[in-house]
Amino acid sequence: MSIAVNTKKDVFLLSTKSTSYAFGVDDRGLIRHLYWGKKLDFVEELELPQLTEVSTNDPVFEVTKEEFPVHGGLRYKDHCLKVTFADGTRELVYQYCGYDLEEGEGLEELTVHLRDEHYEFFMDLHYKLYPEYDLMERSVVVSNQTAEPIQVEKLHSAQFHIPYENLNFSNVHGHWGAEQQRFTQKLSYGKVVIENRRGISSHNHNPYFILDRDATETSGDVYFGALKLTGNFSGVVEQTPYGETLVQMGINSHDCLIELKPGESFEAPGIICGYSASGFETMSHNLHRFARERIMRGGLRPVLYNSWEATEFHVNSRDQIKLAQKASELGAELFVLDDGWFGERHSTQNGLGDWYVNEGKFPNGLEELIGEVKNLGMMFGIWVEPEMVNPKAQLYQDHPDWIYHYETRVSDTSRVQYVLNVTKPEVRDFIYDMLDNLLTRYDIDYIKWDANRPISQTGPQRDIWYKHIQTVYDIVRELKKKHPQVLFEACASGGGRIDYGILGIFDDFWTSDNTDAYDRLYIQDSYSRIYPIKAMRAWVTDCPNFLSGRVIPLSFRYHSAMLGSLGVGCNILKFTPEEVELSQRMISLYKEIRPVIQEGDFYRLENTSANRYFLYEYLKEGQGVVFAFLPQSQVGHRSTTLRLRGLEEGANYTLHTSNGDITKSGAYLMYHGLEVKLTGDYASAIVRFEKNQ
Ligand code: DGJ
Repeated sequence: MSIAVNTKKDVFLLSTKSTSYAFGVDDRGLIRHLYWGKKLDFVEELELPQLTEVSTNDPVFEVTKEEFPVHGGLRYKDHCLKVTFADGTRELVYQYCGYDLEEGEGLEELTVHLRDEHYEFFMDLHYKLYPEYDLMERSVVVSNQTAEPIQVEKLHSAQFHIPYENLNFSNVHGHWGAEQQRFTQKLSYGKVVIENRRGISSHNHNPYFILDRDATETSGDVYFGALKLTGNFSGVVEQTPYGETLVQMGINSHDCLIELKPGESFEAPGIICGYSASGFETMSHNLHRFARERIMRGGLRPVLYNSWEATEFHVNSRDQIKLAQKASELGAELFVLDDGWFGERHSTQNGLGDWYVNEGKFPNGLEELIGEVKNLGMMFGIWVEPEMVNPKAQLYQDHPDWIYHYETRVSDTSRVQYVLNVTKPEVRDFIYDMLDNLLTRYDIDYIKWDANRPISQTGPQRDIWYKHIQTVYDIVRELKKKHPQVLFEACASGGGRIDYGILGIFDDFWTSDNTDAYDRLYIQDSYSRIYPIKAMRAWVTDCPNFLSGRVIPLSFRYHSAMLGSLGVGCNILKFTPEEVELSQRMISLYKEIRPVIQEGDFYRLENTSANRYFLYEYLKEGQGVVFAFLPQSQVGHRSTTLRLRGLEEGANYTLHTSNGDITKSGAYLMYHGLEVKLTGDYASAIVRFEKNQ
């Protein structure tokens, strides 16, 4: 059992393989944080320090490290929970009422029960431990057992206390086409807030926190947490005047109100969290393994061809068949027909909501294209944007009241489309039936589910910011029950929906509409800190790139896309014989190394050169792959030293380089390393290696 309880002192010590987390209940019933860091062995050693106020202006609640601060009393820092009771009382006063322990498969769970001292309002703090991954999941369930409704105005899933000041806080900033731009800032006094208010999780910031003490990839303390939520989130980091840093995360309270009717409960989204004493690499490894093994659907992701960048809305059966034939010749395993196949969809102006096959474009129905794709031995995928409707679409003419709106206001369009109120049962049923019919009628293996605008004018319901995405999750879960073989890709104008909530619902994730192979190195590097490689879809596309205007050699473009789940989005009908041959070679190589890439441990290797090399290693059961990129040779044309990671010191490994095989010990390769020199611009190389028997 990894959860130890000192029942005399009501102290809990939660331990994973190499970390511990501790808290206790004091004589006032406050749940007080005690420890988070390297593993401790003895719960008996932990004491709850006596509470003393610093001054009358710094009351004990401000100084106390509460696990779950609520609104009320002499508390002035950010709280995790604020409710309004039916009589207008807005203060919570909790009492500790005991705990439960449960053990499941590879999981142990501690639940701490709290209740309000006056109202029949309950708060259960959940701590799920995943010892072998060195991870824990925190969440809270609130429950209204009064006879009247209770309004939940703010609900963050947990608060964490990091016992240091001057930490580095990292997250990402960005926008469409520029997701996952990493930033790191030194914390000082005051708060840092990251959030999303648009109804999605991820273009601008991402729902996670990383706090480190000048850590590197391989050394130093790192505290981290990732929220399981695809809708509006907020995260607050605060360095307090009392010598610690607080961080909390959860549903964004902006414009959001959750009403709990009598007898109702609500579970806040969990936060997967952990501590690494050995830098960011361990953090990523633990999260990646956990995501792959405990959250995501198993199996390798197919090499796909997607026609969007080649044809945009101008799809038709004849051209798509030609593309499919070429894609199959290159080695693609899945052909995805993107936007434009339905209704009067010739541009962004019309079509969304009218999910019938456009006869002008597909005179013999979709069957003709699907039949050809299947004859070619590929899977077939199709694009949909089910949460949206164009004003001109028949669906909107028939059901103008299905969109989010206020009766007295005009709803805004964005990309010429409205958002459907999917939380209405009839709208939910319409979307489910439309997709169920599509999957039942046609031999479809893959759905690319897009969402291309933010939510606005939500109407009187203030819980839709949360309920919208929950309804999307429910629809996908239901569809998967009936069509279990179908893979679902989450896309929201590129990488607008990637987080630990959606990881377990969808199977494939579009990282960014920015397919420039050089920009992607930065995007993918940041993405890989938190998200597993299998969840990082990457396409090779045409040059000049539509966003950057850059021209990059095809081999570099392939290598950059092979860092994740490989896809091709070029107009392959224009490929020269050399480009066809190169693509065939790259795709075939990718298929061979795919288990190592998608399911191996991933290492962001150090670059020791003044030249900006990007070096990555993947390792699975003695099989390895290394990628080296040099986007631009700079003055001096310096080489770099490639030092591998994760090898057995005493074992020998053979690397298959373009200059022949090199056999060295794990110790040599990890500590001495090999000199690597790339020259020119957009130079790249890939080297496979394996442990000798
Ligand atoms: C945005 C997506 O990110 C693209 O890949 C493409 O599917 C377009 N939408 C289609 O409208």
